[in-house]
Amino acid sequence: MRIGVIGTGHVGVVTCSTLARLGHEVVGTDRDASRIATLEEGSVPFFEPDLEELVREGLQAKRLRFTTSLPEAVAGAEVVFICVGTPPRLSGEANLVAVENAARQAGRAATGPLLIVEKSTVPFGTSQRVLRSLQMERSDLDGHLEVASNPEFLREGSAVEDSLHPERILVGADSDSAHEVMRRVYEPQIAEGIPFIATSVASAELAKHACNAFLALKISYANALARVCERAGADVRQVTAVMKSDPRIGGDFLDAGAGYGGSCFPKDLVAFDRLSSRLGYDFPLLREVARINDEAIAAVVDKTRDALWNLDGKRVALLGLSFKPGTDDVRFAPALSIAKAMILEGATVVGYDPEAGANAKAEIEELEIARDAYSALVGSHALIVCTEWKEFAQLDLARVKELLEYPIVVDGRNLFADRDLPGKGFLYYPMGASAVEP
Ligand code: UDX
Repeated sequence: MRIGVIGTGHVGVVTCSTLARLGHEVVGTDRDASRIATLEEGSVPFFEPDLEELVREGLQAKRLRFTTSLPEAVAGAEVVFICVGTPPRLSGEANLVAVENAARQAGRAATGPLLIVEKSTVPFGTSQRVLRSLQMERSDLDGHLEVASNPEFLREGSAVEDSLHPERILVGADSDSAHEVMRRVYEPQIAEGIPFIATSVASAELAKHACNAFLALKISYANALARVCERAGADVRQVTAVMKSDPRIGGDFLDAGAGYGGSCFPKDLVAFDRLSSRLGYDFPLLREVARINDEAIAAVVDKTRDALWNLDGKRVALLGLSFKPGTDDVRFAPALSIAKAMILEGATVVGYDPEAGANAKAEIEELEIARDAYSALVGSHALIVCTEWKEFAQLDLARVKELLEYPIVVDGRNLFADRDLPGKGFLYYPMGASAVEP
């Protein structure tokens, strides 16, 4: 099938290359010419494991190509995916200007019947708007323009795996014909036994909000428990282990720590809250989830202050700057909030991240970036784990102790919880349990 993909950010590139792997003829487009040039050379302008290989595979098989010309990507396509950015406005609502532009331009460029698929995370109701925009542009194609919602559930860092082997494919459409087209798009995956969930457009749009908000809620639940455990002398890891053993609760997304970040959860929660209130339903639970997350981030700063007495004049080493391991994305990264708070209190903050150093530096000028984990520790008064990259778990703790001015570890991800740091001479601050003296 001939498919166009508008927008070559994280979601767009993963979508393009996955569709090419599924055997379709895919043309991706973006107005950013340098991004397109990079992709045409088989490189990906951001870090995502295995994605470059998938892009190259598509280019070599000639099933995938890129262009700055949106009309070229759309002409002859049966399906066009919209994967443009939907950044938050100051109000928290998603800014949908790029979605509208993509829809209108796709409508103008259509050479025949067209199914537009929303892949970007958009608020409920967007498809109606997209359809109306298409119809306004092309009254001559009346009855041959349709819109479907096909939310992605991919996680950064494992986006390729999530996209090639998803747990489910969700398609919201309001006609059998649109569902039929989408079944053809995903035919190879459906044949492998991946469930295809067909819903109305409204349900699909809401399902995306529902999933992300619920996952964030699970994390905040664990983080609120962490605060209680710290006060009760319990250990949140033991408490959540019991919860995780109950299949009704489920084992994932119950790890307490420095809170969630990233391009989805923080933004989606606010957008879902705004949407609910616009629909006439107050949903304070969502705001509470966000508040508990802020509290989890603040807990790391509080623990560091508790350890060092005053942050003013101290030097602290932050290990991990991305919002989670396996990505160079620092959007809403707890590490950045922690760094800013500490700098504000007069600390010098030096950070190290295997991938996200440059992105973090671009956000916080005062942040010093070290070239490896050990150099970050030289002369620092405390080590703070913000992101649980695998390489940090393997640090030589004797060397860590030697390099630090004071043997203090604030473990924002409970990464060293099983390595007996107090036994090795550290003052150890886990999340969700009391600090332990050496
Ligand atoms: C998320 C959803 O998982 C995905 O389905 C959706 O499409 C986009 O949003 P992503 O933002 O890439 O994906 O990251 P995810 O792996 O979900 O982690 C989000 C944040 O939660 C990270 O900051 C992570 O550190 C944190 N987290 C996760 C916890 O603090 N505790 C946990 O138990 C799990």
